[in-house]
Amino acid sequence: MRQLAAITAVGGYVPEYVLTNAELETMVDTNDQWIRERTGIAERRILKGGRATSDMAVEAINDLLAKTPYTAEDIELVICATVSPDHVYPATANIISDKIGAKNAWSFDMNAACSGFLYALETGAKFVESGTHKRVLVVGADTMSIRVDYEDRNTCILFGDGAGAVLLEPNSEGFGVIDAAMKVDGSGSQFLLQKAGGSKYPTSLETVRNKEHFIYQDGRTVFKYAVKGMADITCELMERHGLTGEDVDYLVPHQANKRIIDATAKRAGLPDEKVMVNIQRYGNTTCATIPLCLWEWEEQLKRGDNLMLAAFGGGFAWGAIYLKWAYDGKKNS
Ligand code: UT7
Repeated sequence: MRQLAAITAVGGYVPEYVLTNAELETMVDTNDQWIRERTGIAERRILKGGRATSDMAVEAINDLLAKTPYTAEDIELVICATVSPDHVYPATANIISDKIGAKNAWSFDMNAACSGFLYALETGAKFVESGTHKRVLVVGADTMSIRVDYEDRNTCILFGDGAGAVLLEPNSEGFGVIDAAMKVDGSGSQFLLQKAGGSKYPTSLETVRNKEHFIYQDGRTVFKYAVKGMADITCELMERHGLTGEDVDYLVPHQANKRIIDATAKRAGLPDEKVMVNIQRYGNTTCATIPLCLWEWEEQLKRGDNLMLAAFGGGFAWGAIYLKWAYDGKKNS
């Protein structure tokens, strides 16, 4: 049997500070009812105290490692999916590796916006499947609060901070990442981006004054593409493997908008109880949404469960991963 990359442990972290819809009402012209009805979000977590993305990733990884027989020195590769790195360079993954003491690992970051975790998971899986690596950490971590203009009601209600991590190990019993379908359409980049701070619009007084270091999103257009893109790719991957809604145990969707999640679940023929949703508590944590779902649902998951992971985001970049879960219930720390 083909060697697969199985998720053998998960970890997660969300900061303590809870930013509620009620608090947002004091900051911008919005209201709890609009936010809940249009997005499904009630609150999100915000990182405070001068901490950075790597600090949340370290918390998530330490939570994960405590459930395994391994130490950080056993890790061979660390991939960090993020759009809010500690610095423009070097990679946040390098800083994470140093902080956890992964002395024998190499590491790099991956930027595929909201699909970052899926891209990183598929990439990490290849290193394990090929036989070159035995223990790969994939972490999705984002401090979206540094990217958000808290005077812009179109975006500030959506995002939150958090980190989630998975460990990938070889499996020759059919458990692990079975298949992936990934897509990009760079012509969509104009609809969801941070305009300045890169080589096209280097940081200047003007870019700061124009608030071009914050998220810009044409929400309506992104919504239109996301609702179709995430459902299409999920169904395409299910069809490729002859799966119906009956065969899938859980949909693990990127948490951008509850309406997008519901549309994908409906198209895939999945009832609510088979859909992981925590957007109401964390909002859109970009690269952390999917691993945070796995972290929260770990206890319910069983060996052999069929999981469909799906995401759509800036770029446009979107995709789906079909994997068979490798273990029963929550691992003890
Ligand atoms: O994770 C990366 C991918 N991102 C996504 O998938 C996000 C996709 N987009 C969305 O989720 C939705 O488009 C939003 C939640 C961002 C917006 O919801 P919408 O239903 O598309 O609203 P809209 O932008 O069409 O705005 C409808 C109305 C507008 O007022 P008018 O022009 O009809 O008078 C907005 O100004 O709602 C207004 N509005 C708000 N009202 C209260 C926009 N933001 C708010 C707000 N509170 N926070």
